Amino acid sequence: MCGIVGYIGERQARPILLNCLARLEYRGYDSCGIAVAGGGLQVHKDAVRVQALREQLPRRIEGKLGIGHTRWATHGAPSRANAHPHGDCTGRIAVVHNGVIHNFQQLRQQLVKEGHKFSSETDTEVIPHLIEKYFDGDLGEAVAKALNDIEGSYAVAVLMDGVPELIAARKESPLIIGVGDGENFIASDVPAVLDYTSRVIYLEDDDIAVITGEGVQVKRNGEAVARKPHQVTWSVEDAQKGGYEHFMLKEIHEQPRVIRDTIRAYLTADETMSDWGVFQKGDSGDVLMLACGTSYHAALVGKYILEGLFKIPVRAELASEFGYLGQSSARSQAIVITQSGETADALKAIKRLRSEGCPVIVITNVVGSSATRVADRVVYTMAGPEISVAATKSYTAQLMALYWMALPSAKIDLRRRDGLVMELRQLPGKVQRILDDEEKIAQHAAQIAKYNSVFFIGRGLNYPVALEGALKLKEISYIHAEGYAAGELKHGPFALLSGEAPVVALVTPDATYDAMLTNIKEVKARGSPVIALVEEGDDVVAEVADSVISVPKVDPLFSPVVNTVVLQLLAYYAARERGCPIDFPRNLAKSVTVE
Ligand code: F6R
Repeated sequence: MCGIVGYIGERQARPILLNCLARLEYRGYDSCGIAVAGGGLQVHKDAVRVQALREQLPRRIEGKLGIGHTRWATHGAPSRANAHPHGDCTGRIAVVHNGVIHNFQQLRQQLVKEGHKFSSETDTEVIPHLIEKYFDGDLGEAVAKALNDIEGSYAVAVLMDGVPELIAARKESPLIIGVGDGENFIASDVPAVLDYTSRVIYLEDDDIAVITGEGVQVKRNGEAVARKPHQVTWSVEDAQKGGYEHFMLKEIHEQPRVIRDTIRAYLTADETMSDWGVFQKGDSGDVLMLACGTSYHAALVGKYILEGLFKIPVRAELASEFGYLGQSSARSQAIVITQSGETADALKAIKRLRSEGCPVIVITNVVGSSATRVADRVVYTMAGPEISVAATKSYTAQLMALYWMALPSAKIDLRRRDGLVMELRQLPGKVQRILDDEEKIAQHAAQIAKYNSVFFIGRGLNYPVALEGALKLKEISYIHAEGYAAGELKHGPFALLSGEAPVVALVTPDATYDAMLTNIKEVKARGSPVIALVEEGDDVVAEVADSVISVPKVDPLFSPVVNTVVLQLLAYYAARERGCPIDFPRNLAKSVTVE
């Protein structure tokens, strides 16, 4: 989703802005631009990648104050005119904006009546014109007045030629300030500034910051507020490829470390999650889990885990659909899962739950993200920065958080519980074995890459894994893929089975095993080639499937972890075989901050 950057200090802004923008590319965008102030305002933008913008910029762009933007189109197609920064009639003001302005039509009509001229179809363009209207010698004041007229969400960075300060403000859209020595930065996300500083201020809703090279002053409703810089523990290397061809492959390979770190952190926490008493309410308690996309698939796995271990009703719903469902106040606990902590649908769901009196635990990977500020409790996953648009290690970290929330107080035999905790500690080694053998998975992927349609099937805990396998494949390889509960294939999708539509079947030695074998036979009878994921040592499935991929033996409760890692690699190598832009798939964004 759109990315904002800004710089003020002693160095030339242009190379810094371009570098920061390149670090935000992972969020997804279709156009980009920069504005630099220094003896006149210079604005350059186009519907191109950052590298292309860098190449087409005139040689002389000088100035130590600037802002930049990567745009993901909402109002108006990707084009030079619609790309940010946007300006006013005087040509002195430049604004970059993330978010959506709901009342922009009315504001625009009013401004046109007052003589303002617009040159784009964007909602953003009303902001510089409002600032122009209100400017009376104090840029911060003018921005505050302009934002007061706006209904909707925003993160904005503003500059005005001749005024030696940057203004940053946020409401329901992320924005941070990178604090340097004699220089300061603005960005939508931490990786953008890590080359320059690891001290970061997380702005809060309704904050307006006036930033100079020497300092940052934050105000809220006109009153000064203190916002302390936090030390970020991620390094630049964490946010770089580290020798891998793609971020996605690097992130898949980081999963043993992620699992290990997560277990270590939760083990040494002052307060264990079981102290929260979330899942000890017996029959009266019920749990609602909400999320989007891959995080929703983690929530679905969570539903099976929690219902199995606590025998309590757990519902998993799409956060984007939650607004259309009935009252939630009867629920005793909600868990919202969001890797970025910025997904608009997830944030809206949290606000509704809170307003209905339902306590919310947020599972997120991003410290200081919007979701953490509106939650009652936060469980941080330990995945580190995830750059590739396709979620991999953040999903595994979410599963780990769910296991860890559940296991200490699970209503199961103590010996079984201790056995499961022991197994959990062995998971990193087992995932590592899958990664060590990735060449074999790449060979299967090369076969899959030849097809235009693939089905993934599973039952029980592995039904959501089938959904996730299909999502990973479709989003990065552009192969049409469907995930199904294996028992549902015969209720319609059978019509699509043929030699042209292979089926990936997830077979786990639990209560679903026999039914899965039957389903594989049904699929084979209709001509579809079957690739089955089976536990190592299983030689029964190989007799019915066309080919098998062996996964290390784990307790079936943990099969979603090992199976998902295999499916991530399958998707990755299929996409690579097809020459797709794996880390930045078309039309997708890392952080989806609009509804
Ligand atoms: C798919 C993917 C998306 C996200 C979804 C929710 O690989 O990454 O489906 O899972 O956009 O994002 P978060 O977890 O940030 O709320």
